[in-house]
Parts: sequence; C-alpha cells; structure tokens
Amino acid sequence: MVQQMARDFAQREVAPVARELDREARWPTELIARMGELGLMGVAVPDELGGAGMTNVCYALAMEEISAACASTGVIMSVNNSLVCDPLLKFGSDEQKAKYLKPLAAGEQLGCFGLTEPSSGSDASNMQTVAVRDGDEWVINGSKNWITNGPHADVMIVFTCTDRSQGARGTTAFIVEKGTPGYRSEAPDEKMGIHAAHSSTLFFEDCRIPDAQRLGEVGGGFKIAMSTLDGGRIGIASQALGIARAALEKAIDYSKERKAFGKPIAKLQAIQFKLADMAMELDAARLLVWRAASLKDRAVTEKGLRHSEESAMAKLFASEMATRVAHQAMQVFGGYGYSQEYDLERHYRDARITEIYEGTSEIMRIVIAANALKG
Ligand code: CAA
Repeated sequence: MVQQMARDFAQREVAPVARELDREARWPTELIARMGELGLMGVAVPDELGGAGMTNVCYALAMEEISAACASTGVIMSVNNSLVCDPLLKFGSDEQKAKYLKPLAAGEQLGCFGLTEPSSGSDASNMQTVAVRDGDEWVINGSKNWITNGPHADVMIVFTCTDRSQGARGTTAFIVEKGTPGYRSEAPDEKMGIHAAHSSTLFFEDCRIPDAQRLGEVGGGFKIAMSTLDGGRIGIASQALGIARAALEKAIDYSKERKAFGKPIAKLQAIQFKLADMAMELDAARLLVWRAASLKDRAVTEKGLRHSEESAMAKLFASEMATRVAHQAMQVFGGYGYSQEYDLERHYRDARITEIYEGTSEIMRIVIAANALKG
C-alpha cells in the first residue's frame, strides 16, 4: 500500500514537473508540503511522534518511487527521514522529540545534517568546527558544506569538536534552529545534477545554543553520525534504485518504438543484452537494499544489532549500478539520450552523486573490508 501510494503520488504530481525543477534548479516547496501530508517526511517515525509509523522497508519502497520520478525530491525526503528524524528518534530526549522530531516527521518543518566540512568529507572525525562550553550554553564556530536542504532547513543537526585530544570520541552533536544569531547559510551550490535539491555552506560565528540542544552525550557525536549514516545509506541506495529504474523503463519503452534495420531495436540482441543486464543488476541491488532495510527494522527491537556492512554493500552496489544503468540506457537512446529534451541525461547526471554523498564508494569499501577482516 505504501509503495502504491508513493507511486501514485510520484507519477501524478512529481514526474510531470521533474524536468522543469531540474532545468530551473527550483526548490519544490509544494511537493515537500504534499510529502508531509502523505507521511513521507517521517515514514519510520512512530505516529505519536508525528511520523507515519511504518517500517524502514516501507521507507525504502517509498524512496525508490519518489526518486524514480525526481531524484532531487528524493534526496530532500531522504535527508529529513534518515539524517534528521532518525537520530532524533534514537538519541533525542523526550523534550527534543516533542519540540523538534514531531514537526519534522510531520513535514511541518525541514531538517538538515551538518557533518561535512570544506576540508573533511571522508575523514569525517577530523572536523574543524568547534563547540566550547560556557555555563549552560555552547558557543559554536566553524562551517559545514555540501549540506543538502541547508538553505531551507528549519533545524540542523551539527557535529562539532568539543575535545580535540579525544579524536572521534571528542565529537559532540547539537540541534541548531534557523534564525539563531551567528548561524547563516550561503546561496545554494551549483552542481552537476540533483539541481532542485539545494545544498549550501553554513557558517557558525559565535553561535550560542543552550545545553538543552545537545544531542546525546558530550563526546558521543561521532557514533551518532556513523549510526545515522548506516540508515542514511539505505535511503541513498533506494534513491539510486529509483534513478536506475526510471532510466531502464524509459530505455525499454524507447526500444519498442525506435526502428533500425527494419524492426524495433528491442528485437536486436545488442539491445536485449543491455536490457537484460540492466534489469538483473537493478534487481540484485534492490535485494541488497531490502535486506539492509529489514535489518534496520530488526535493530529497532534488537539492541546492539548493527547493519553497517549491509548498508554499505547496498549503497555501494546500488549507486554504481545506477551509474552503469543510466549509462547503458543513454546508449539505447543514442543521440536522443544526450539531448536535454529527454530525461535520460538528467538520470545520468543524478545517478553520479549517489556514489559520492553519505559516504563515497571508496568509504563503503573500507566499511565492508573492515567488517570482513573482523571475521
Ligand atoms: N555505528 C556506531 N559506531 C561506529 C560506527 C557505526 N556505524 N562506525 C564507527 N563507529 C565507532 C567506532 O566503533 C569507534 O568507536 P570507539 O572509539 O569506541 O572505538 C569510533 O566510531 C571511531 O571509528 P573509526 O576509528 O572507524 O573512525 P574513522 O575516523 O577511522 O572513520 C570512516 C571511519 C568509516 C572512514 C568514517 O569516517 C566515515 O564513514 N566517513 C565517511 C563520512 C560520510 O559518509 N560523510 C557523508 C556526509 S553526510 C551527507 O553526505 C549528507 C547529505 O547532504 C546528503
């Protein structure tokens, strides 16, 4: 039912505007509001906390549908669900859940996640943003960049260094509200793809926030970031499924219409073999994503259950698969695939980011290898 609801919404309301959103780099305010109404901004958050009370498998299904229509809209949804609602649900106090999680999960507010900095992406614990305690307050200084939803978010979860001598154990997370003095966003970044999903650099200049807005323990921030990304990677892997599916479906339709050598190109083995490989890879990726999502569902009740490796495998395979599928789909379309009159070039550009954000393919291999070597 969730899949069908998300598909109906995506095909009826999102797909028709996706090309325009991309072309104009237009932030989809109206679609975000509709996703809030449909429960898509807090899919796996219990309903008493403002969410839809569904599972992480439902979230993966919905993410694929939205992203098949528009990958930009998909990542806006993914950041709010995986990177903001999820850590608030897992690590927030009751007061923080009431004040921040409820409106975010209901889609009344939007969140963003501030981990990456200009000089630390993959090496996430090596951050320069600092928070210094001053009585009941913390003073934050530094900057975060490539922050999806950054220019529009009402709430940010930001990771700071509070004790450099402790390395990763000296990281602390905070909740910062838009409008807090000393907190500001630059204009949206100009990117290769996902044009409608605005990201930006955010600055903290003597930004004071109360200790009540600390998320989790002092020094516990890095584990919050890492376990949050274990969930976020399922969202991005689902986004990659959606992009690849859209490209494959369009290639199949086109191959039935386009004639060459006296017949539709779908009758040519050269095209059939491409379609077969694309379909197989998409399905293999989907199974990895669903496995990771169902493990994340189990982790809700089985304390200590981790799915870092399964999430990394899902993201690595799905993102690289999306790039390969979009590439081959463009090949099926030939010159028309390269034209901005069709969607193929958008899917091709959008696929590429899934190999980079929320952990590059290289970081996914490091996570998988570390788990494999543990035995
Ligand atoms: N869950 C819980 N704890 C974890 C964990 C996990 N998945 N992974 C690591 N930890 C813990 C470790 O157990 C360790 O704890 P102890 O100190 O108690 O031993 C601690 O965290 C430090 O771990 P590591 O020594 O492994 O840390 P590291 O500095 O070597 O980094 C890394 C490991 C995998 C490279 C990590 O830095 C990483 O994932 N980097 C990529 C960051 C990333 O994905 N950034 C994406 C930004 S968000 C984004 O893109 C959002 C957007 O806008 C769309």
